[in-house]
Amino acid sequence: MHKLVVISFLVLSLISMSWIINPVPNNQISDESSVASILVSLGDKPVPHQPNLNMKGVSAKKGEQLVKYGMTRKPNGAKTRKQSRHFVCTSCHNIEREDPDLANPNPEDRLVFVKEKGLPFLQASPLYGIANRLKFYNDDYFKKYGDLVDKARNDIRASIQLCATECAQGRKLKGWEIESILAYFWDLELKVKDLHLSEAEKSQINHALENNTNQEKAITNIKSKYLDHSPAHQSLPPEDRMKGYDVKPGNVEIGKSIYELSCKHCHYKERYSFFLLDDTKDTFKHLTHHISKYSRYSIYQVARWGTTPLNGKRAYMPFYTQEKMSNQQMEDLRAYLESMSD
Ligand code: HEC
Ligand code: HEC
Repeated sequence: MHKLVVISFLVLSLISMSWIINPVPNNQISDESSVASILVSLGDKPVPHQPNLNMKGVSAKKGEQLVKYGMTRKPNGAKTRKQSRHFVCTSCHNIEREDPDLANPNPEDRLVFVKEKGLPFLQASPLYGIANRLKFYNDDYFKKYGDLVDKARNDIRASIQLCATECAQGRKLKGWEIESILAYFWDLELKVKDLHLSEAEKSQINHALENNTNQEKAITNIKSKYLDHSPAHQSLPPEDRMKGYDVKPGNVEIGKSIYELSCKHCHYKERYSFFLLDDTKDTFKHLTHHISKYSRYSIYQVARWGTTPLNGKRAYMPFYTQEKMSNQQMEDLRAYLESMSD
């Protein structure tokens, strides 16, 4: 009996896996080839989070609707309850790629890149490529939230659940909803074109696939082209808020992009927050007046500490880690706000 259960489990997981990770056709990679599939074809261990597509009601389409709209249809066809009254996943996460070089993500290059693509500049890591990552809520999220993050750190399902209840301040997701979101994450997996491989690197990989030689070299090379986790270090407000951070003088143009692509993403027309940020002089004066103060309206306070959620009763603002907004960018934002207030 036991054996039977184990065998059918193995067969089922093999079936569900084969839907996500397929061998590379003809051993020739193309721009659209799946990075995860190439790694497995080269003999690497598959990433541990294949969705269970055999569970009733699971589909990538439903996962996409949950991520974008916070709701979808249940397996019985009825509408689900909204996941959160305050947010959808895309309030804080981009679903598009947002870093020009995936091996060296940094907020300066990201701002230029997202601006060009018309994307927002946000506190949370992109969901594009998350299927290829292995560790979640890294560094200071782990230090700060310890127990809460413990389970989520190596487990993408627990990460999704944690974010649904803690980040989005909403209801718990059902098993089939988590599997659907995970299936959707695989629609957003990294492709060869994201790695910017040279022709020589591509032929080395094709050669390794065809002849089963030098696979290790190919695997190491591929893995050097992206990070398997999103680094997350908190930066504290400057010691002297009047002086600000000890960096180059703020750049007004860059500050404007941050205001437009980040602050206004949530605050303009009170989209996700009752605190309205627009382009009136009053708004700029109010923000500028509080910059150097120990006040909840100080950009240093709110960007570096965020605001506290009150158990799902209201929306809150997540803080920006150093990797999501640099100290220099904080000064750029300050310079813009000040320039607009006089
Ligand atoms: C209010 C903002 C907010 C909302 C809404 C939100 N998240 Fe997050 N999420 C974050 C932040 C901040 C982190 C911290 C780690 C990071 O992204 O770098 C995070 C982390 C994650 C992680 C781990 C990412 C990593 O690389 O460490 C996953 C997975 C995730 N969220 C999924 C979701 C899903 C699915 C939803 C919708 C149900 C959602 N989140 C809604 C802000 C949010
Ligand atoms: C992901 C969405 C999001 C982004 C991006 C965002 N905020 Fe917020 N912010 C919020 C939410 C939600 C609150 C909580 C206030 C509320 O209850 O509506 C808030 C609160 C604040 C507050 C405090 C208001 C109060 O009443 O206590 C300030 C000031 C603020 N934000 C400024 C900014 C600035 C400046 C930026 C850009 C650097 C920014 N926010 C980016 C969502 C966001």
